[in-house]
Amino acid sequence: MLNKFSFALLLSGFLFASCSNTKQAATQNGMSSLKETFKKDFLIGTALSGQQIEEKDSGAARLVPQQFNAATPENIMKAEIIHPSWDRYNFDLADKMVAYAKRHDIKLTAHTLIWHSQTPAFLRGMKDADSVKQYFVNHITTVASRYDGKVYSWDVVNEALNEDGTLRNSIFLQKLGDDYIVEAFRLAQKAAPHTKLYYNDYNIEQPKKRAGAIAIIKKIQAAGVRIDGVGIQGHWHVDNVPMNDIEESIREFSALGIQVAFTELDLSVLPNPRGRTNSADISNTSTYNEQINPYTKELPDSVQQKLATAYAGLFNLFLKYKDNIDRVTFWGVNDGQSWLNGFPVRGRTNYPLLFDRQYRPKPAYYAVLETKTRGSAKKAF
Ligand code: XIL
Repeated sequence: MLNKFSFALLLSGFLFASCSNTKQAATQNGMSSLKETFKKDFLIGTALSGQQIEEKDSGAARLVPQQFNAATPENIMKAEIIHPSWDRYNFDLADKMVAYAKRHDIKLTAHTLIWHSQTPAFLRGMKDADSVKQYFVNHITTVASRYDGKVYSWDVVNEALNEDGTLRNSIFLQKLGDDYIVEAFRLAQKAAPHTKLYYNDYNIEQPKKRAGAIAIIKKIQAAGVRIDGVGIQGHWHVDNVPMNDIEESIREFSALGIQVAFTELDLSVLPNPRGRTNSADISNTSTYNEQINPYTKELPDSVQQKLATAYAGLFNLFLKYKDNIDRVTFWGVNDGQSWLNGFPVRGRTNYPLLFDRQYRPKPAYYAVLETKTRGSAKKAF
């Protein structure tokens, strides 16, 4: 016969088991998801590869609509792909992405109009300032107007700053001068009146670079041109997430009357090559050696846990500032797809996202969900 005590024990064991099962089952049958969990707080996005946009990747085809309500094309709207020669545009995949997003009620961030990397070959060798100007006007006007009303936001200018807050010496700065950023936003505003306009960069949570970003934003505003938000890319290292700088940045950017988005979030778990500072500049690469590729088979539990804790810390901060944050986008759906397997060193095995190579949720996924469920449980009691 069961006495009261053993009955209580049995019941709590049953509840515990069914709770952890629910956690697993919930994500499998679509009941619980990132987008649902944070729907009152901010959009939850992912970067999509060409394959994923074409729904050739069955894991992503199933998971993306279930988990995400925002998406950014990882590459296919960059100038080298969408504008391959002077008078030729290649809109195929971007149009497919718009249709895909519409079917699944996903808000698109188009990425990106003006950036020094992944530019078309014909622009790279251009000497004459008038031709660069013509390219600049045609590119922004043609691409931004085609997708106005179809995409939610544009990264109008990407990575215009050096680490010390000065302007990067790109072809646009050289040929068009200091005002090119304001002009890019002016053209985008005209071509895309229904689309949010963002400035996007990495490391702009760092004080000097942040000051440079604030100067850019103020200059755009002073010219009477619209800027709706600033994107902090969020390519960080699991051991070194700059929480205080991120918090200070959310406050300072919000004080300018614009929204903040975390646009390319991923946390590398691999050792940095010797002497390398944290940079997402895609031209700044390092050479391979085995010591900096320690987890070729699997990620040890201790590092899984560290990743979960770092992501939970970030989402707690995001929730604190949810009124200022428009969107949090991960740079990829699963670890296998992440650019961090090939950057800054080729051929490594990295684990920076919430889903593993088989699209299974990692401990970091549950830790992120719990920042919300625990928070609301606290409020409810
Ligand atoms: C990366 C893509 O993920 C890679 O597939 C590509 O080879 C290089 O670019 N900052 C940005 C993104 O704004 O567009 C970059 O994406 C990562 C750094």
